[in-house]
Amino acid sequence: MTIPLSTARILLVIGGGIAAYKALELIRRLRERGAAVQVVMTASAQAFITPLSAATLSGQPVRHELFSLTDEALIGHIELSRSADLVVVAPATANLLARMACGLADDLATTLLLATDKRVLVAPAMNVRMWLHPATRRNVERLEADGVAFVGPGEGPMACGEFGPGRMAEPAAIVDAIESALAKPGDSAVNPRGPLEGRRVIVTSGPTYEPIDPVRFIGNRSSGRQGHAIAQAAAGAGATVILVTGPVSLPDPPGMTVVHVESAREMQAAVAAAMPADAFIAVAAVADWRVDHVETEKIKKGGGGPRMLRLVENPDILAEVSKQTMLRPAVVIGFAAETEHVVDNANAKLHRKGCDLIIANSVAEGTTTFGGESNEVQVISAEGVESWPSMTKAAVAGRVIARLAAELAKRP
Ligand code: C5P
Repeated sequence: MTIPLSTARILLVIGGGIAAYKALELIRRLRERGAAVQVVMTASAQAFITPLSAATLSGQPVRHELFSLTDEALIGHIELSRSADLVVVAPATANLLARMACGLADDLATTLLLATDKRVLVAPAMNVRMWLHPATRRNVERLEADGVAFVGPGEGPMACGEFGPGRMAEPAAIVDAIESALAKPGDSAVNPRGPLEGRRVIVTSGPTYEPIDPVRFIGNRSSGRQGHAIAQAAAGAGATVILVTGPVSLPDPPGMTVVHVESAREMQAAVAAAMPADAFIAVAAVADWRVDHVETEKIKKGGGGPRMLRLVENPDILAEVSKQTMLRPAVVIGFAAETEHVVDNANAKLHRKGCDLIIANSVAEGTTTFGGESNEVQVISAEGVESWPSMTKAAVAGRVIARLAAELAKRP
């Protein structure tokens, strides 16, 4: 049974990091969606934001003392930890993760986390070196084995001036992760293998090459970075992933089946062979046309006049998968690389291709979407348009997968 966010009770533990300010935005978004939010702040969180701000946004007094007679008289800390549907820790600092991993209970936040019998979702935020330190790696592994779920961290420039993984997930991504964690509230812990465990996901990535003759082809500038990052995020979330990729210079991501193809028709056949699936994510930049007649010998130059190539349309793999009646995956996601009228064109594509979500980005001159490290996308669904800020392709992938998990959780 899924608990809808509109009736959910969220116990939000705010740790002491610069990302604490984003926790205020998280409270606002959760309240907007109808959730009740009870905030608990650690002592160091109060060095970054005030309990008054959190209380005003949540509409409830903020708890921060373990031994407060007045607070305890209102609702005891054990009851507080058990009356929530989900406990969310955002931001979770390296110190807070370490205390959770050891089972310490030396303040209200950690006592609640030890006493709760509900699912726990954490959004880590810390300096990149702290996140990559073997001690933090050990703590994260231990917490994951205990059934704690993670959202983020993302990659990007950090408040400390460094760059790398450690930035707290954006509030919208945390809300998505909360929705998917609320999907199976009967479980005592969040699925330790990830929110896509038991799901089969097919991802297409890279360009296609359409042969002209044995040595020449028509291709495009897709690097495969975004598609590969999505496949990797899906595998990281516990899914069984089949990545069907056109020619790219990236290594095969670990932990999945990778099928290498060249042309659109080979990609179409590989996708058909990989079906059925719970989700299909079409990230590949599939060539719209192929050469009607592929020469068996290398075409020689000369012969005067212009050389004509007759092009015929390729099958639209995404539309075909979306429009299947028997085997349609529960969630079908497409990408739209546009040079103009990004949202209008993507909206039209959503309807024409019959998919559930379109992730649209601009590949106009001056953008670095093709081949670059980062991406700025708009997410178009029947519910409307959401603009995500510019972020790394790995961060976009993490958010797409959190969104996929939330969408799958909504379906029976
Ligand atoms: O129509 P357009 O190529 O802009 O659509 C982009 C979306 O459709 C992407 O998700 C792409 O992977 C998918 N597509 C496909 N087969 C095609 C063309 C596009 O799956 N032949």
